[in-house]
Amino acid sequence: MADETVPLNRYLALPKVELHRHLEGSLRLSTMLDIARKHGVTVPVSMLNLSGLVQVQDKDPMTFSNFLDKFKTLRLFYRSPDVIHRVTREAVEDAAKDNVHYLELRFTPVALSRAEGFPLHDVMDWVITSAQDAAKTFGIKVGLIASVNRHESPELAEQVAWLAVDHQKRGLFGLDLAGNEAEFKSNPFHDIFKEAKQSGLHLTIHAGEWGPAENVRDAIENLGAERIGHGVRVLEDEAVVALAKERGVVFEVCPTSNFQSGVVTTMEEHPLPQMIAHGLKVTVNTDDPSVSRITLSNEFQIAHEKLNVPMDALKQSILLAAESSFLADAEKAELLQSLKKQMNLR
Ligand code: ADE
Ligand code: ZN
Repeated sequence: MADETVPLNRYLALPKVELHRHLEGSLRLSTMLDIARKHGVTVPVSMLNLSGLVQVQDKDPMTFSNFLDKFKTLRLFYRSPDVIHRVTREAVEDAAKDNVHYLELRFTPVALSRAEGFPLHDVMDWVITSAQDAAKTFGIKVGLIASVNRHESPELAEQVAWLAVDHQKRGLFGLDLAGNEAEFKSNPFHDIFKEAKQSGLHLTIHAGEWGPAENVRDAIENLGAERIGHGVRVLEDEAVVALAKERGVVFEVCPTSNFQSGVVTTMEEHPLPQMIAHGLKVTVNTDDPSVSRITLSNEFQIAHEKLNVPMDALKQSILLAAESSFLADAEKAELLQSLKKQMNLR
């Protein structure tokens, strides 16, 4: 059995790669309080309750709708270019402090633009500029992914996709489909994602999280996904497992998020070890560190101590994350070499 007293530092010490982290799920609570004071953000109940509105609580129902509701409140905070600059910078800083060496940070331009009606291209420019500045300041490498939600307008998603294509040279490498998978199909987005891929963007799709394994097949075959966000329900269908293996699709698994949004009823029954045993390509990620009140080091601790994934397998998953990042080949090779050196691997 794993030793419960092993300090978190062991996980902090691991040089990590994060492929699946949402900017909107990464806001510090202290920053939200500050923004609320400065911008007079009125939240439905008292400020003392802010955590309950934007972060999952132990007493909350562990459901996808409760989880997604946190993002509705979070949208009230994006009140100025400075706010967007600050939250982006802090998200990068927090990853660096957690010893993340490469962060692929995804952001939802539609969410960030809503409160004040900012143009989508401005929002994209602010996030990219702030993220790349912060990367230099905090000594971490950052790539960006633009996210669109299944439950929102395909017309806006198309605008985001085209803007993303135009920003590839500035480190915006990919497009992601997120949002309410339980109630919304991906069909309205098929053509948008196909064209985005043809224009050079990498694709990752949230699928097999709140929807069945069939959605993982849909993400691979109809949307052209190279990576799957979550995808833990793939194990419900052997044929889809075989398809994912044949195509070399990589899974961005986020254990605590899955528990908090009701994908699994206890942490101990999370299927991460079974996914590895089936020979699937699995990486460990946070999803929304602030909403879930976690760090990536926490998730590695859970994977090792609660799910009994050996440390060697976790180190290999870090290398796999680097290999399946959306970085250009030369940068990827450099990252891999540096990670191997720091983990004493060859
Ligand atoms: N947006 C933020 N977190 C998400 C998740 N876990 N699934 C779908 N959309 C999301
Ligand atoms: Zn996600």
